[in-house]
Amino acid sequence: MAEQAERKIPQHVAIIMDGNGRWAKKRGLPRTMGHAQGAKVVEQILEDADHMGIKYLTVYAFSTENWSRPDSEVKALMNLLRTYMKTSLAKCAKNNVRIRVIGDRTKLDDDLQKAIANLEENTKSNTGIGFQIAINYGARDEMRRAVTRLCEKAKEGTLDPRDITEETISDSLDTAGIPDPDLLIRTCGEERLSNFLMWQLSYSELYFTDCAWPDFTKQELEKAVDAYNHRERRYGGLIQ
Ligand code: IPE
Ligand code: IPE
Ligand code: MG
Repeated sequence: MAEQAERKIPQHVAIIMDGNGRWAKKRGLPRTMGHAQGAKVVEQILEDADHMGIKYLTVYAFSTENWSRPDSEVKALMNLLRTYMKTSLAKCAKNNVRIRVIGDRTKLDDDLQKAIANLEENTKSNTGIGFQIAINYGARDEMRRAVTRLCEKAKEGTLDPRDITEETISDSLDTAGIPDPDLLIRTCGEERLSNFLMWQLSYSELYFTDCAWPDFTKQELEKAVDAYNHRERRYGGLIQ
């Protein structure tokens, strides 16, 4: 393991938190218990990431495809998110965390939308770690929404389509203003993006681990950061 002092810390880490269901099944528990344990782990990892010096953490909590799960599981996941949004303000204040929810929140229950808006508003001036939570998020849907907005501006006459740059597109996504992830972690053995941050991950380093999300610890995060330290980022250029 690299020494703390010489370890390069990624500025932005994105995580596909996978394996809650399998973790629970292995223990003879209902899948929702895996989600409950997973929710506890996110809070701990947010603190650990902050202590390690990571500036932005983005987690995939609920995808646009996850609505296809049984109603009872969707409800349990929404309730965990609801609880988080309604109870974490004091902790965010104490730890100086700035929250942003990415994804199409208009499809969420009204009270959840209000709780999200409230938490974002009350943490927006915090200067510590930026914590992005992806809810009803899909990269294709995010791009679709961005294209609609840009077309509306073009139609209004406030944007010339010939002036659209890559930056214009980045600035139209839910992650506007946030640097692209340096490192993507996916847990529990799957090696795919599942519609997560497809634009933003173009040049991120990808790290896959067999560890299920509810078993993820600071040590696992450090292992991922160590692996990142052994990567050579070339961005299409040549090594110096
Ligand atoms: C990740 O765990 C959490 C969500 C997708 C909401 P899963 O629920 O996908 O767990 P597995 O993949 O079925 O084990
Ligand atoms: C991706 O995990 C979504 C989240 C972690 C929220 P899934 O478990 O839904 O992805 P697939 O179905 O295995 O691709
Ligand atoms: Mg899964």
